[in-house]
Amino acid sequence: MEVIICGSYDELSKLAAQAVAEVVRNKPNAVIGLATGSSPLGLYKELARMNKEDGLDFSQVTSFNLDEYVGIGPEHEQSYRRFMNENLFEGINIDIAKTNVPDGLADDYEGFCKAYEDKIAAAGGIDVQVLGIGSDGHIGFNEPGDSLASRTHTVTLTEGTIDDNTRFFQKKEDVPIYACTMGVGTVLDARKCVLVATGKGKAKPVAAMIEGPITSMCTASALQMHNDTQVFLDEEAAGALKFADYYRWIQENKPNAPK
Ligand code: GLP
Repeated sequence: MEVIICGSYDELSKLAAQAVAEVVRNKPNAVIGLATGSSPLGLYKELARMNKEDGLDFSQVTSFNLDEYVGIGPEHEQSYRRFMNENLFEGINIDIAKTNVPDGLADDYEGFCKAYEDKIAAAGGIDVQVLGIGSDGHIGFNEPGDSLASRTHTVTLTEGTIDDNTRFFQKKEDVPIYACTMGVGTVLDARKCVLVATGKGKAKPVAAMIEGPITSMCTASALQMHNDTQVFLDEEAAGALKFADYYRWIQENKPNAPK
């Protein structure tokens, strides 16, 4: 994992956006994996700016989102489909028909999950996957104990995740308890991962992900097995890292590193 500790949320968002943009520039028909949550909002804003001002072209790009709540339709205020439309897709020149978000209202989830995996494979696999991290160390909605080999599946959310997400709903009882998510195995198949985390609430899960053991108790720790993952953090999210000085040292000396 490459750990990049940034001076501000703005800086980490810009650097993470550059990493995604580089993939799209090198491969105009790239397949990008996307995440919801507040962490990637700055990254999405920067991608929209690059689309408008720097000619970053998304017209041939296909996207797959990580997850969606079960029981919530695309029109619902808190649906991840709506979140993506409002926070990214409407701000860039992506073809909306090429954007995929798991179906919150599928009749048959077993069939749906398999079809989602098949669609990702048919598109050629994910070139770059954007990720956030939950306060319990989840990626997508892969909660503690979820298999590190899992593919797209439904999951029962932990009470902690429901509490974290209550802020977006009127009350706790309105937060769905099930979700449909790409599996950890699906994420690990992406050619590149770009994870963003901000604020002191993420310091513990970030440290567990980077410096803890690989364990399904922190599904993000599986990224230690991925050979091209960049983690963009602000100082607060990096606050519990034991080797923070080493990660800074690596970045300072990167320009002269042997290729
Ligand atoms: C949800 C999403 C995750 C996201 C996490 C953190 O659980 N399913 O993909 O990473 O929230 O959200 P935030 O970035 O708002 O802290």
